[in-house]
Amino acid sequence: MEIHTFWLVQLFHVVLWVNGLMTIGLAGAHQRHVCNESLLLQNLPMCGKSFEEMMHRVDSKKWCNLTEFILYYNNFTLCTERKANMAQCFWPNPLAEGFITGIHRQFFSNCTSEKVHWEDPPDRILITLIFVPVLLTVAMIGLVVWCSKRSDILA
Ligand SMILES: *[C@@H]1O[C@H](CO)[C@@H](O)[C@H](O)[C@H]1NC(C)=O
Ligand SMILES: *[C@@H]1O[C@H](CO)[C@@H](O)[C@H](O)[C@H]1NC(C)=O
Ligand SMILES: *[C@@H]1O[C@H](CO)[C@@H](O)[C@H](O)[C@H]1NC(C)=O
Repeated sequence: MEIHTFWLVQLFHVVLWVNGLMTIGLAGAHQRHVCNESLLLQNLPMCGKSFEEMMHRVDSKKWCNLTEFILYYNNFTLCTERKANMAQCFWPNPLAEGFITGIHRQFFSNCTSEKVHWEDPPDRILITLIFVPVLLTVAMIGLVVWCSKRSDILA
Protein backbone atom coordinates (compact mmCIF):
# COMPACT_ATOMS: atom_id res chain seq x y z
CA MET A 1 0.00 0.00 0.00
CA GLU A 2 2.73 2.40 0.99
CA ILE A 3 4.77 1.62 -2.11
CA HIS A 4 1.80 2.75 -4.27
CA THR A 5 1.70 6.16 -2.63
CA PHE A 6 5.46 6.43 -3.10
CA TRP A 7 5.13 5.58 -6.80
CA LEU A 8 2.30 8.06 -7.26
CA VAL A 9 4.28 10.85 -5.61
CA GLN A 10 7.31 10.09 -7.79
CA LEU A 11 5.12 9.92 -10.87
CA PHE A 12 3.62 13.27 -9.94
CA HIS A 13 7.13 14.75 -9.64
CA VAL A 14 8.14 13.35 -13.01
CA VAL A 15 4.98 14.78 -14.58
CA LEU A 16 5.71 18.16 -12.96
CA TRP A 17 9.28 18.18 -14.33
CA VAL A 18 8.21 17.14 -17.81
CA ASN A 19 5.50 19.77 -17.66
CA GLY A 20 8.04 22.38 -16.58
CA LEU A 21 10.38 21.44 -19.42
CA MET A 22 7.52 21.64 -21.91
CA THR A 23 6.50 25.03 -20.54
CA ILE A 24 10.07 26.30 -21.02
CA GLY A 25 10.06 24.91 -24.57
CA LEU A 26 6.64 26.31 -25.44
CA ALA A 27 7.41 29.71 -23.89
CA GLY A 28 10.58 29.81 -25.99
CA ALA A 29 8.71 28.88 -29.16
CA HIS A 30 5.94 31.37 -28.40
CA GLN A 31 8.35 34.23 -27.67
CA ARG A 32 10.41 33.44 -30.75
CA HIS A 33 7.23 33.73 -32.77
CA VAL A 34 6.45 37.30 -31.66
CA CYS A 35 10.10 38.40 -31.50
CA ASN A 36 10.43 41.77 -33.26
CA GLU A 37 13.79 41.23 -34.93
CA SER A 38 13.98 44.65 -36.54
CA LEU A 39 13.39 46.30 -33.16
CA LEU A 40 16.10 44.10 -31.62
CA LEU A 41 18.57 44.89 -34.42
CA GLN A 42 17.78 48.56 -33.97
CA ASN A 43 18.42 48.48 -30.22
CA LEU A 44 21.43 46.17 -29.88
CA PRO A 45 23.98 48.75 -31.12
CA MET A 46 23.14 50.90 -28.06
CA CYS A 47 24.59 48.14 -25.87
CA GLY A 48 27.64 47.85 -28.11
CA LYS A 49 28.18 51.61 -28.03
CA SER A 50 28.14 51.91 -24.25
CA PHE A 51 30.41 48.85 -23.95
CA GLU A 52 32.82 50.44 -26.44
CA GLU A 53 32.87 53.66 -24.41
CA MET A 54 33.63 51.71 -21.25
CA MET A 55 36.36 49.65 -22.93
CA HIS A 56 38.14 52.76 -24.15
CA ARG A 57 38.59 53.75 -20.52
CA VAL A 58 40.51 50.51 -20.00
CA ASP A 59 44.14 50.41 -21.15
CA SER A 60 44.03 48.46 -24.42
CA LYS A 61 46.97 46.36 -23.15
CA LYS A 62 44.61 45.04 -20.49
CA TRP A 63 41.80 44.20 -22.89
CA CYS A 64 42.58 40.51 -22.49
CA ASN A 65 42.37 40.66 -18.72
CA LEU A 66 38.84 39.60 -17.90
CA THR A 67 39.00 40.93 -14.33
CA GLU A 68 39.57 44.42 -15.78
CA PHE A 69 36.34 44.53 -17.72
CA ILE A 70 34.08 41.77 -16.36
CA LEU A 71 31.76 44.42 -14.88
CA TYR A 72 31.39 46.21 -18.21
CA TYR A 73 30.97 42.92 -19.99
CA ASN A 74 28.30 41.90 -17.52
CA ASN A 75 26.52 45.22 -18.08
CA PHE A 76 26.77 44.62 -21.80
CA THR A 77 25.20 41.15 -21.68
CA LEU A 78 22.49 42.42 -19.31
CA CYS A 79 21.84 45.24 -21.78
CA THR A 80 21.42 42.79 -24.69
CA GLU A 81 19.10 40.73 -22.51
CA ARG A 82 17.01 43.81 -21.71
CA LYS A 83 16.79 44.75 -25.37
CA ALA A 84 15.78 41.19 -26.26
CA ASN A 85 13.04 41.29 -23.64
CA MET A 86 11.84 44.67 -24.93
CA ALA A 87 11.55 43.18 -28.41
CA GLN A 88 9.84 40.13 -26.85
CA CYS A 89 12.64 37.87 -28.00
CA PHE A 90 13.92 34.83 -26.16
CA TRP A 91 17.42 35.39 -24.84
CA PRO A 92 19.97 34.20 -25.85
CA ASN A 93 18.90 34.19 -29.49
CA PRO A 94 20.88 33.98 -32.78
CA LEU A 95 20.63 37.72 -33.46
CA ALA A 96 21.95 38.72 -30.04
CA GLU A 97 24.60 36.00 -30.20
CA GLY A 98 25.79 37.23 -33.60
CA PHE A 99 26.02 40.74 -32.23
CA ILE A 100 27.91 39.63 -29.10
CA THR A 101 30.29 37.57 -31.26
CA GLY A 102 30.97 40.69 -33.35
CA ILE A 103 31.83 42.63 -30.19
CA HIS A 104 34.12 39.78 -29.11
CA ARG A 105 35.89 39.96 -32.46
CA GLN A 106 36.27 43.71 -32.21
CA PHE A 107 37.90 43.70 -28.77
CA PHE A 108 39.26 40.24 -28.08
CA SER A 109 40.50 38.99 -31.44
CA ASN A 110 44.10 39.30 -30.22
CA CYS A 111 43.48 37.47 -26.97
CA THR A 112 44.31 33.79 -26.89
CA SER A 113 41.76 31.52 -25.29
CA GLU A 114 44.25 30.73 -22.47
CA LYS A 115 44.29 34.40 -21.57
CA VAL A 116 40.56 34.89 -21.59
CA HIS A 117 38.41 32.25 -20.00
CA TRP A 118 34.90 32.80 -21.21
CA GLU A 119 32.22 31.75 -18.90
CA ASP A 120 28.81 32.05 -20.42
CA PRO A 121 26.34 32.62 -17.60
CA PRO A 122 23.19 32.32 -19.76
CA ASP A 123 24.35 28.99 -21.19
CA ARG A 124 25.17 27.73 -17.74
CA ILE A 125 21.75 28.74 -16.47
CA LEU A 126 20.08 27.09 -19.45
CA ILE A 127 22.06 23.90 -18.91
CA THR A 128 21.09 23.95 -15.24
CA LEU A 129 17.46 24.54 -16.15
CA ILE A 130 17.45 21.66 -18.60
CA PHE A 131 19.73 19.09 -17.03
CA VAL A 132 18.98 19.35 -13.33
CA PRO A 133 15.33 18.28 -13.73
CA VAL A 134 16.40 15.52 -16.14
CA LEU A 135 19.07 14.28 -13.72
CA LEU A 136 16.63 14.50 -10.84
CA THR A 137 14.08 12.56 -12.85
CA VAL A 138 16.63 9.87 -13.70
CA ALA A 139 17.75 9.77 -10.06
CA MET A 140 14.14 9.49 -8.91
CA ILE A 141 13.39 6.69 -11.34
CA GLY A 142 16.53 4.93 -10.13
CA LEU A 143 15.45 5.45 -6.54
CA VAL A 144 11.97 4.11 -7.28
CA VAL A 145 13.40 1.01 -8.98
CA TRP A 146 15.87 0.48 -6.16
CA CYS A 147 13.19 0.90 -3.48
CA SER A 148 10.75 -1.43 -5.23
CA LYS A 149 13.48 -4.07 -5.58
CA ARG A 150 14.40 -3.65 -1.93
CA SER A 151 10.78 -3.98 -0.86
CA ASP A 152 10.57 -7.17 -2.98
CA ILE A 153 13.57 -8.56 -1.13
CA LEU A 154 12.15 -7.48 2.23
CA ALA A 155 8.69 -8.78 1.44
C1 LIG B 1 8.80 46.15 -34.68
O1 LIG B 1 9.55 47.29 -34.34
C2 LIG B 1 9.48 48.35 -35.31
C3 LIG B 1 10.36 49.46 -34.80
O2 LIG B 1 11.69 49.15 -34.98
C4 LIG B 1 8.03 48.80 -35.45
O3 LIG B 1 7.97 49.80 -36.44
C5 LIG B 1 7.17 47.61 -35.83
O4 LIG B 1 5.82 48.02 -35.86
C6 LIG B 1 7.36 46.47 -34.85
N1 LIG B 1 6.62 45.31 -35.32
C7 LIG B 1 5.75 44.66 -34.56
C8 LIG B 1 5.12 43.46 -35.17
O5 LIG B 1 5.49 45.01 -33.40
C1 LIG C 1 44.35 41.46 -14.32
O1 LIG C 1 43.92 42.61 -13.64
C2 LIG C 1 43.87 42.48 -12.24
C3 LIG C 1 43.26 43.74 -11.65
O2 LIG C 1 43.84 44.90 -12.18
C4 LIG C 1 45.30 42.22 -11.72
O3 LIG C 1 45.28 42.06 -10.32
C5 LIG C 1 45.82 40.94 -12.39
O4 LIG C 1 47.17 40.73 -11.97
C6 LIG C 1 45.76 41.06 -13.89
N1 LIG C 1 46.11 39.76 -14.49
C7 LIG C 1 46.93 39.63 -15.53
C8 LIG C 1 47.17 38.25 -16.02
O5 LIG C 1 47.43 40.61 -16.08
C1 LIG D 1 45.26 43.25 -32.83
O1 LIG D 1 46.60 43.27 -33.28
C2 LIG D 1 46.77 43.98 -34.50
C3 LIG D 1 48.22 43.83 -34.91
O2 LIG D 1 49.08 43.92 -33.84
C4 LIG D 1 46.37 45.44 -34.29
O3 LIG D 1 46.51 46.17 -35.49
C5 LIG D 1 44.91 45.49 -33.83
O4 LIG D 1 44.54 46.82 -33.55
C6 LIG D 1 44.71 44.64 -32.61
N1 LIG D 1 43.30 44.57 -32.30
C7 LIG D 1 42.83 44.69 -31.07
C8 LIG D 1 41.36 44.60 -30.93
O5 LIG D 1 43.54 44.89 -30.10
